[in-house]
Amino acid sequence: MAQGKGGLGGIVAGETAICTVGKAGHGLNYRGYDIEELADKSNFEEVAYLLLYGELPDKAKFKAFRERLKSHRGLPAPLRAILERVPAMAHPMDVLRTGCSALGCLEAESAFDQQQEIAERLLGALPSMLLYWHRFHRDGVQLETLTNHDSLASQFLFLLHDCEPDELQRRAMDVSLILYAEHEFNASTFAARVAASTLSDFYSCITAAIGTLRGPLHGGANEAAMELISRFERPDEVEPALRAALAAKEKIMGFGHRVYKKMDPRSPIIKTWSKQLADAVGDSRYFPVSETIEAFMVREKNIYPNLDFYSASTYHFMDIPVSLYTPIFVCSRITGWAAHVFEQRANNALIRPSADYVGPDERPYVPMSQR
Ligand code: COA
Repeated sequence: MAQGKGGLGGIVAGETAICTVGKAGHGLNYRGYDIEELADKSNFEEVAYLLLYGELPDKAKFKAFRERLKSHRGLPAPLRAILERVPAMAHPMDVLRTGCSALGCLEAESAFDQQQEIAERLLGALPSMLLYWHRFHRDGVQLETLTNHDSLASQFLFLLHDCEPDELQRRAMDVSLILYAEHEFNASTFAARVAASTLSDFYSCITAAIGTLRGPLHGGANEAAMELISRFERPDEVEPALRAALAAKEKIMGFGHRVYKKMDPRSPIIKTWSKQLADAVGDSRYFPVSETIEAFMVREKNIYPNLDFYSASTYHFMDIPVSLYTPIFVCSRITGWAAHVFEQRANNALIRPSADYVGPDERPYVPMSQR
């Protein structure tokens, strides 16, 4: 194998002007802006604009952008019909993958100069698809997804719970969306760039990314982390169970990272929101259990939580079903994926690496009658 370890770790696979991961400072910035500052002072729509268009918007551009996103929340009737036929038992990531692909048939990209409009369309429509399907199968309602909420955070919680979200929950969701928006050449973004490099259409790039994000070693880790946390009623149950899991060589979901070998800079930020929500709902189980898991992993393995770990309890305290955790990641990361598709297309080269061959030496074909 060429330099680097398995899975292309340590290999530089291209250039990007969108994001840095694991560099000096806090280690993560979007187009030069530190993630801590964005999570503290900005909002998701502003960050989405920054990622898609390269600069922070002024007031007029921001207002127009938000209005366009609102107008993109409606779903065409054939797509609603498809969503109603996707089974209730389907995984919501499969629903998003299907919905994105279906929209690509209904509103196909006929030229690359439509890419920004399609990115905005998906940013508006993906949460609508998810929640239309979810509420149709959970409550038998045909949701009106065109609402007047200014933010995705507020829209999402409103469509899910059928009531206006309180301010703490709205802001926690907003920060979570900021943190999930972009992360350089992670697996799903790379999948999107590979698809883009073949000059495929925008929807195909995003469909490839959604399928790649689904796995538990990537986006699916937030759901797997909640499954782990929920196993414990009390903090004192954590240590023996984790010792046994590690002895069996199991991965502890929501911990470790390919690039960050110490702290994922997003983790302490989402942890503070998990704590605030835990206090607000009077939790005495999930947050203490989560902190005990974290302390154990750092003490015993020197492995730190990534963004997915405390995102799990944050969403739990907002009463969000576990199967919607990774789809929320999609609703945010569409911004980063889109920015990478634009960047790939702007300076394209087909992504097609080589492999070291380890199979049999050349040999003659033997007809079936002689085998
Ligand atoms: N639990 C237990 N051990 C872990 C671990 C975890 N979550 N993450 C890494 N390790 C251990 C590995 O077992 C390995 O140990 P070894 O050298 O004794 O075999 C070592 O740390 C290196 O791990 P490796 O999986 O080779 O590193 P990677 O860079 O390929 O992995 C992840 C990165 C994210 C795939 C990995 O940390 C992981 O699977 N984490 C859990 C899933 C998760 O949270 N994914 C979301 C990522 S944002």
